[in-house]
Amino acid sequence: MGVVTALTRMADRNPAVPETGYHRSWYPLCLTGDLASGAVIGRDVLGTRVVAWRDADGRPVVQVAWCPHLGADLSIGEVVEGRLRCAYHHWSFDGQGACAHIPSGDRIPDAARLFTYPAAEQWGLVWMFNGERPDFPLPRIPGAQPDTIDYAAHARGERPWETWVAVSNGVDFQHLRTLHGLPAASLPETLEVDAGGIEFRVESPYHLQHGRITGTNSFAQHLRLGGRDMFQLFTGAPVAPGRSSGFFVVGVPKGESARLPEVQAMVDRLNAEDAPVLSTIRFRRGLLTASDRHLAHYFRYVDAFPTFRAPA
Ligand code: FES
Ligand SMILES: [Fe+2]
Repeated sequence: MGVVTALTRMADRNPAVPETGYHRSWYPLCLTGDLASGAVIGRDVLGTRVVAWRDADGRPVVQVAWCPHLGADLSIGEVVEGRLRCAYHHWSFDGQGACAHIPSGDRIPDAARLFTYPAAEQWGLVWMFNGERPDFPLPRIPGAQPDTIDYAAHARGERPWETWVAVSNGVDFQHLRTLHGLPAASLPETLEVDAGGIEFRVESPYHLQHGRITGTNSFAQHLRLGGRDMFQLFTGAPVAPGRSSGFFVVGVPKGESARLPEVQAMVDRLNAEDAPVLSTIRFRRGLLTASDRHLAHYFRYVDAFPTFRAPA
């Protein structure tokens, strides 16, 4: 093996990507408003870097950011004639990842392709699926459709924790009372596991909590407290082991948008109460007791969740 090849192989061993890859799930990349038509943005996610832009129909395209020619970061490139053009030698790539043009006129190598992640927009966020094809639909918010609620999406920036650990909060019913002081919190009978998610419903004369985990990185809930409905979605994407970027969506029934600040204040409080624990926890599956049975169920679900590693 030549010295250059050996050095390249060493550089390929990226410790930010676990050997098995990351879970095959939908990950939030940015707010819809961050991706203007004609813009090219780069994001560090899943131990690599991706580039996002919009095709001629305005649909988001998410691709590995490293140009297959010499590895330039395509996020400093430009969208030209509906294709992503590398800043360095102007190779151009289409929305499916094929290299469509090399200005030198050389033959386009067969391997000149960008891995292209399935991408979509929903709840004010641009999403990418970690796989060749989505295994399941985008995260749902129980009791809500995009046209039946008024909602607002927010970015929380980078946090020092794993997304799947944060999402365990959604089925950690004890902490709702102990950490968050929610008196109405009670334990559902069962968790329903379906393709790509876990769902539960707890209802009493005083409250409703209808929760859903999608993948291992999104938790959404419909809450009814004091007869008032609210909708929340907490989601995040791994940046590298132990680090993630966070987003949340708050919603209220259509026409009640004046109540959005009230729902946001609740989410800000929940986030502020969880953050000191999540940012210092040395997570382990310790001594689980009977009240932790839903958490135990979730940990088994996470263990069995399929993973994917995009080609370098
Ligand atoms: S590095 Fe991208 S075209 Fe040369
Ligand atoms: Fe919490």
